[in-house]
Amino acid sequence: DLMMAMIGSAVGLGNIWRFPNVLYSHGGGSFMIPYIVSLFLLGISFVLVEYAVGFKFKRSLARILFAVSKKLEPVAWFILLIVFLIATYYVCVVGWDLIYIVLSLTKAWGANPDLFFANNVLQATDSISGIFKIVPMVFASVFAIWFMAWFIIKRDLNDGIGNVSKVLLPVLCLIVVGIVAFSLTLPGASIGYTQIFTPDWSALTNLDVWLAAFGQIIFSLSLGMAIAMTYASYLPEGSKLVDNAVIVAFSNSGFEVFNSIGTFSILGFMALTTGMPFNELVTEGTGLAFVVFPQVFNTMGDVAYIIGPLFFICILFAGITSLIALLEGVCYSISEKFLIERKKTATAVCIVGFLISIIFTTAVGSTILGVFDAYLNNFALLFAILLECIIFGWIYKFDDLIEILNNNSSIKVGKTWKTVIKYILPICIAGLWIQGVMSTISTIDTLSSTIMLILTIVLIVVPIIFAKLPARNPHYYD
Ligand code: PFF
Repeated sequence: DLMMAMIGSAVGLGNIWRFPNVLYSHGGGSFMIPYIVSLFLLGISFVLVEYAVGFKFKRSLARILFAVSKKLEPVAWFILLIVFLIATYYVCVVGWDLIYIVLSLTKAWGANPDLFFANNVLQATDSISGIFKIVPMVFASVFAIWFMAWFIIKRDLNDGIGNVSKVLLPVLCLIVVGIVAFSLTLPGASIGYTQIFTPDWSALTNLDVWLAAFGQIIFSLSLGMAIAMTYASYLPEGSKLVDNAVIVAFSNSGFEVFNSIGTFSILGFMALTTGMPFNELVTEGTGLAFVVFPQVFNTMGDVAYIIGPLFFICILFAGITSLIALLEGVCYSISEKFLIERKKTATAVCIVGFLISIIFTTAVGSTILGVFDAYLNNFALLFAILLECIIFGWIYKFDDLIEILNNNSSIKVGKTWKTVIKYILPICIAGLWIQGVMSTISTIDTLSSTIMLILTIVLIVVPIIFAKLPARNPHYYD
């Protein structure tokens, strides 16, 4: 059960919405090798750290970090703030999905889902002045999703919603299998899917592609956000931790790669029918999924009136459960330190979150969303993971973790894993990070640089304030 829950928490919008977009914007085949390498080097290796630490300490991230050193409290708030900021734009993608549930009832996107998404749903503009124009439909759906999230967290309905998604997640998988099978029969499909499996060796030296691969593994496996730590703290004695981690990581990546075969086949079909070059098929990359799936529903005939809405409803539930998981840790940590009632914390967190989300509902919202997404995963969380590697690899007694992992597992870890966490991963991350910062600085536009600057200041100042504020809970530092 718990393993299903872990796979369920990993499989989400990251697999269906984010992966195809990252794959598409990084040239398909050139992305796969860095992606597979990061799955092992970063994904599996680091999930093991989180499992071992969570299983050993059985408490919240902030308190685990105190146990290592009191000075580390700002690091915990830094991570929680990243998680919160991810939630603010995750809501918006779930909001788009909500709109598509309604649209799919009548296939209201018409014959050109790409233009429909950019012009009718997002009403996107390139001009910076678009930041002052709120798009009412997106605004309303973002509000609705925040309201649902607040309602669920406040009343502690998580179990209910979890049970619904336990049913809907397998349904989603079935629909995806159906869609992939159907897409493979479309004319031109092979133009698309061969892109994924034709490696472009020359791209291996492009560090931006590597950075994107690391970012995707982080988001999709929910790495560095203490999610796996929380789950592992519930695992019973005698659990096969390593086996568990490997299964979760492979299922998650298997699902997204499989799903992207469908997405790329549909793109191949679009390239054939429109005669457009493959890399110009989609106007707003952040919405790739909302272009490609409507496209396939258009070619499916009448069954699409059932499959379409069902598909978007499944995504809604997958999205809401992920959202709750993101917000839960934030609310828990705040009410634990300041002894604020859970309901009040949830209300405050959701109101602040909603106010931030409003920028994603403007006419430049999807562009800003892309900047948030790349910055938070490729830079902020990657940096947090570097810190966690140093904290657990160097400051904490690392050999204890090896023992915990190996106790009952049939797959054993040892020296190689230790070398990866202590040396190889930190060096790779640091290198990628520095190069990523430099290449971003040299190519960035004004809007993105302003957003990244603001995010950087917020991510430095707010965690320090939260750590400095005195705890009202007398047992907080016990
Ligand atoms: N891993 C999730 C996905 O791929 O959609 C994203 C996510 C969910 C991250 C929940 C964090 C989290 F707490």
